[in-house]
Amino acid sequence: MSHSPSLPDRPRLELDPEMSEAERLEAIRQHYRRIVHMNEELSDRLDDVQGRRGDLKSEVDQLKRENETLKTSSLYIASVEEITEDGVVIKQHGNNQEVLTQASTRLEADLRPGDRVAINDSFAVQQVLDDETDSRAQAMEVAESPDVVYDDIGGIDEQIREVREAVEDPLENPEQFETVGVEPPSGVLLHGPPGTGKTMLAKAVANESDATFIKMAGSELVRKFIGEGSRLVRDLFELAAEREPAVIFIDEIDAVASKRTDSKTSGDAEVQRTMMQLLSEMDGFDERGEIRIMAATNRFDMLDEAILRPGRFDRLIEVPEPGPEGRERILEIHTQEMNVAADVDVGVVARELDGYSGADIASLATEAGMFAIRDGRTEVIQSDFERAREKLQDADKTEDRVINYQY
Ligand SMILES: Nc1ncnc2c1ncn2[C@@H]1O[C@H](COP(=O)(O)OP(=O)(O)OP(=O)(O)O)[C@@H](O)[C@H]1O
Ligand SMILES: [Mg+2]
Repeated sequence: MSHSPSLPDRPRLELDPEMSEAERLEAIRQHYRRIVHMNEELSDRLDDVQGRRGDLKSEVDQLKRENETLKTSSLYIASVEEITEDGVVIKQHGNNQEVLTQASTRLEADLRPGDRVAINDSFAVQQVLDDETDSRAQAMEVAESPDVVYDDIGGIDEQIREVREAVEDPLENPEQFETVGVEPPSGVLLHGPPGTGKTMLAKAVANESDATFIKMAGSELVRKFIGEGSRLVRDLFELAAEREPAVIFIDEIDAVASKRTDSKTSGDAEVQRTMMQLLSEMDGFDERGEIRIMAATNRFDMLDEAILRPGRFDRLIEVPEPGPEGRERILEIHTQEMNVAADVDVGVVARELDGYSGADIASLATEAGMFAIRDGRTEVIQSDFERAREKLQDADKTEDRVINYQY
């Protein structure tokens, strides 16, 4: 349908001075006819182009509408059962309802039985989704035994002790709890400022109790499609049951378990559903054997109390910013593998690090090492730590450390 955009040449009137009066008149007549003809042709073309413009405009409108519905309507997940002459048979996840529906020609060519698709309220197929196992694999991190040990964690010995008691002991000596007749805590919630070792602690306890560590970030549970978050929660607990003894760790739990907000958007409702699923998994947890549940947050104030009720996250452990001794221990840990000059006093360095988290101290140690390398030395000296501290302080100021909460 390619139309040449170029316009026909304009006819020219050529009058020869040798011509007779009658010949001139005839030439002028002919010229006039050509002009009239050309005018007709051009107005035909104009109609044609205007028509096409109208078509394009309605196509644009149509796409805009489709885009709007995609943006606003809730999408559900379904699987393609069969592709028939009359349309596509899909089965909706969650309620297993089978429906005959249509897919746009663009999508239909790509659909295969077994595909996961997103459908809208009226069951129309909107999108083909990635393989389910892919999306699960992306959302969960599974480690047979993570590489963190208690000795890698400094300054929070009391918290380590509490976590061992609540997680490790019930995994290793379930009989003891039975004999004494007490229930171990259902879930352990670690809370405290960023970079204080919460994730490390969860990994270490899984490692040291020879349990599979299954980590899911709360933000991963906040999914685009209706039912997908709660499905992932179910999968998480199923996977743990297959791999027991296991520690389930939900990081940034505030993403799915924050206090109810007033807004009634479908996204919020979906987050609520995911939290409900989590609560019901935890409530039905007694018979599940050697699985322990941990979670972490640095937004304790945001949490919905429902998640903290007995039988749910009923053991709260605060992981605070390290004090002077803790900072010294953490600095020792992070300089252990470094070639530090014999006269360096980590205690003196640590005293200056008021307000530093464990993560800050880890980067300070790395920075100090970088200064030694830049100077062409093989040993890290006291002044490297001071320079590193100044550098981090400057970086702090320029970056004006807005803590990036999700809300
Ligand atoms: N108590 C600690 N002892 C030793 N290293 C620590 C400690 N706390 C933090 N670190 C260092 O900081 C890094 C980040 O720690 P971690 O991920 O455990 O923090 P977090 O409390 O989970 O933080 P967030 O709330 O941001 O998730 C660790 O990999 C480690 O290098
Ligand atoms: Mg963490």
